Amino acid sequence: MSTAIEFKNIKKAYKNQIILEEFNLSVTQGEFVTIIGSSGCGKTTALKMINGLIKPTSGDIFVDGENIRDKNLTELRRNIGYAIQGSVLFPHMTVEQNISYVPNLINKKNKEKTTMAVSKWMNIVGLDEELKDRYPSELSGGQQQRVGIARALAASPDILLMDEPFGAVDEITRGQLQNELKQIHQKTGITILFVTHDISEALKLGTKVLVMDKGKIVQYDEPKTLLRSPNTDFVKQLVDQERCTCHFPDERLTVLEQWRDSI
Ligand SMILES: Nc1ncnc2c1ncn2[C@@H]1O[C@H](COP(=O)(O)OP(=O)(O)OP(=O)(O)O)[C@@H](O)[C@H]1O
Ligand SMILES: [Mg+2]
Repeated sequence: MSTAIEFKNIKKAYKNQIILEEFNLSVTQGEFVTIIGSSGCGKTTALKMINGLIKPTSGDIFVDGENIRDKNLTELRRNIGYAIQGSVLFPHMTVEQNISYVPNLINKKNKEKTTMAVSKWMNIVGLDEELKDRYPSELSGGQQQRVGIARALAASPDILLMDEPFGAVDEITRGQLQNELKQIHQKTGITILFVTHDISEALKLGTKVLVMDKGKIVQYDEPKTLLRSPNTDFVKQLVDQERCTCHFPDERLTVLEQWRDSI
């Protein structure tokens, strides 16, 4: 498998405050990476560097083997879906127009294909089709969030960046969206980077979990390795918070594997 994303010795500083340092990461194509760490440790900063929204102070980032420094940003972003917490929808466009924004650019002449794509994605993220003519201001926070996810997915990107995308939805919807996303990942083989504050979510969804602390990578491993051999006290405390009633790593692993198998 080839490398989808690579950070090479990335440093990011604002004036004299260092945000990321010696940040080296290689993400294999098709991986579902969940990113977790304390607030302000640089998760969003790292994510936004991949689609060029934030530029590193030094170091290089490669997407599909190409240094993004040399790439046209519009072209780069066409292949990278981005879903973030809070509304980033176009306020003057309806739900349908928001979701079809990129497919419309691609299927210019085939309106029917776009309409079908919109219904398909609304269905997948659990949005009632009746909502398609509403404007973002006429939706709840959770609905807006789902439109944002549908829009990011409708562009059929090779890479999907998600920054706490399920933050504003209730527990049941969250569970459904987790299942949907896991299935989409399995079906499409898309590379996903997903920031979360919830260790259960990180362990359930990720094929790899990236733990960050104070601008550095603490551990980057499969969920089972994280549970069995946390490599610092910080990671140990984190996995111990998991909202699972089990007390031993192997029991937690069984629960995790049962969940994966149930999809
Ligand atoms: N434009 C900016 N100028 C100065 N400092 C900034 C700027 N943007 C972010 N920071 C700082 O960089 C650090 C990392 O921010 P970032 O948004 O990456 O954190 P995070 O890990 O995503 O946190 P959270 O979990 O709260 O979303 C924070 O201390 C933040 O205050
Ligand atoms: Mg953040």
